[in-house]
Amino acid sequence: MEKETMRLDRFLVLAGAAKSRTDAKKFLRVSLVTVNGVKATDPEQKINLPDDSVNVNGKAITYQKNRYFVLNKPAGVISATKDRIGETVLSLIPEADPKEYFPVGRLDKDTEGLLIITNDGAFAHRLTSPRKEVSKTYFVRITGTVNEDGKRKLEEGIVLADYTSKPAKYRFLSEEGDTSDCLLTITEGRFHEVKRMFHAVGHEVLYLKRIQIGSFSLPESLAPGQYLEYSGEQLHEAIFTTDKNEL
Ligand code: URA
Repeated sequence: MEKETMRLDRFLVLAGAAKSRTDAKKFLRVSLVTVNGVKATDPEQKINLPDDSVNVNGKAITYQKNRYFVLNKPAGVISATKDRIGETVLSLIPEADPKEYFPVGRLDKDTEGLLIITNDGAFAHRLTSPRKEVSKTYFVRITGTVNEDGKRKLEEGIVLADYTSKPAKYRFLSEEGDTSDCLLTITEGRFHEVKRMFHAVGHEVLYLKRIQIGSFSLPESLAPGQYLEYSGEQLHEAIFTTDKNEL
């Protein structure tokens, strides 16, 4: 865990013991708060994390600082925290301890693109929950070109062996020889979903890259294997508040 120093009143708010800094002041007057076993009354007292232990009425309180890394996942790397033989996405982010951090959802080993790595379980749950229908857009190179019937099927939902895909948004980009490029936006994240949807309408996926989640786009400056840290506010706003990809 990263080391950091903060005021006691801020810590009490972040740890959920007090509602606000004003409340924390009151809280320090009426509750027994100790820092490393010594009674604390000064809201401005500095505490060092994660070394100092703060107790409220005899009970230890902690708070976890959430961090968010946006990775351009390269092909050949596994979306997991550990793997016995393969390289994992966590090994590309040295500052994210695989004991605390994990990828939000999965991209196949051969898929590239936008993957968020965090230690925020609630954020990950919200992003991947099928009920929340957060849109995910993929750049896809396929064999052949999707015809009107295929487009309609992709957009209406396709009956696959074990489930029916939810309506997606298909956009043709270009074709070259016997392949074409397109964008597909889906709102769930089932195993091999994009590949299976195209397969069902007669096309094989030759290259797959996730380029957007909600209205958050993979920064073009990020080469495969590179990552950037974002704040929770930046990602929440782009993913949950202003999802412009509504289908
Ligand atoms: N759909 C797929 O088929 N593979 C991915 O990696 C992501 C979505």
